[in-house]
Order: sequence, then structure tokens, then C-alpha cells
Amino acid sequence: MTNKRANLGVISSGRGENLRYILRAEREGWLPGRVAVVLADQPEAGALRIAEEFSVCHEFIDPSGLSRQEYDLRLMDRLDQAGVDLVVLTGYMRILSPDFVRHYKNRILNIHPALLPSFPGLDAFSQALEWGVKWTGTTVHVVDEDVDHGPIVYQHPVPVRQDDDRESLKARIQRAEYKAYPRAIRMFIEGNPRIEGRRIIWQRE
Ligand code: GAR
Repeated sequence: MTNKRANLGVISSGRGENLRYILRAEREGWLPGRVAVVLADQPEAGALRIAEEFSVCHEFIDPSGLSRQEYDLRLMDRLDQAGVDLVVLTGYMRILSPDFVRHYKNRILNIHPALLPSFPGLDAFSQALEWGVKWTGTTVHVVDEDVDHGPIVYQHPVPVRQDDDRESLKARIQRAEYKAYPRAIRMFIEGNPRIEGRRIIWQRE
């Protein structure tokens, strides 16, 4: 991405705490971009309330009665209207259609609460505890057509403690995410990445 001040479009299904930290980074003048619009597929998504708190344009897009492709067309319309350069997923629980992924090819980021390729999919915290790993973490990656799969932008490791349960591990990983996501977005915007297969080559000018 060569655009030095990118327009971000955030899509969420949930709490939206990552959005809060992205918006804080923006307001602190630390992020080379601005959140242009926040969209959610759940009317009660915390992300909508956080967007309101920060006076950012936001909208619930109702998926009822729409196919995945129809729904994604609505999202694309809204994101394009807002002039979005980079789509940022925070806890978005729907699988994006191939058309959506192609439309924003290499311009969609997602955060996952594990060191991919370990523990993709649901409940990465329990997966890590059950496997008995000593380290897990968080991964920011470019979204491709498979779930939790695209090229890796940034990872941050988090230790698993002997007395951890799901909630304590989740809290430690999420604290790491709040730093990792704004940092990864900044790297992605400023780093002018070229994507070769699964690898990201940074070509900072
Ligand atoms: C984050 O922990 C993120 O890693 C996870 O959803 C949470 C969203 O939190 N995403 C996934 O599991 C995607 N596979 P938030 O709504 O508070 O930002």
C-alpha cells in the first residue's frame, strides 16, 4: 500500500475493543490513516457503540434474508462510498465471499488470537490450552479466500502459564492484540508491501 494516509473500513461482529485501540492510535496521531467507516452485522455490536463514542461514521448492515454474496455486495458498496483503501476485520464472524476478497485483493487485514498456522478457527484459547503449548500469541494477516490463512503481516508471542484457564489466557492474548493491531496496520500502510506467495516483502521507500 503506497497510500501514506489510508482510509480504513472496519468490520466487526462483536465487542470491538481492537477498534478502540486503533481509534486511540489514530487520535494520538500515531496511525498513518483514519477510520472512515465502521460496519457491523450485529445490531448490538460493541464496535458500533465505540464508533459512536469516537464520532466515526458507523452502520449496522442487516444480513437477514441475504445470501453471503448479496450481503458482501452491500458491504462493498458502503466501503467504496467511504473511499476505503484498507479493510480491517475485528472479530468479524462471517466468511467473506470470493468476490469481496478479489475486490479488495491484498487490502484486507484480520487479527487472530493465536500464532497461525497453529489453532485457526474458533476458540483458539482452548485449542492452545488443550495442546499444552508454552507459547501462543496473536497474528495479523492478509485475508485470502480461506479462513485464518493469508500471508502473515505481524505476530506477537504470549506465554501460557501453568495455572492459566481459558479466561486468563484470553485476557493476556487480547492485551497483546491491542498493541499488535495498530502496529501491524501502521507497518502495512507505511511498509509498501509486495506479496509473493505467502510471503510479505517490505519495500519501504
Ligand atoms: C479478537 O480476539 C480477535 O483475535 C478474534 O476476535 C476478537 C475480537 O475482539 N478474532 C478471531 O477469532 C478471528 N478468527 P474485539 O471485537 O473486541 O476486537
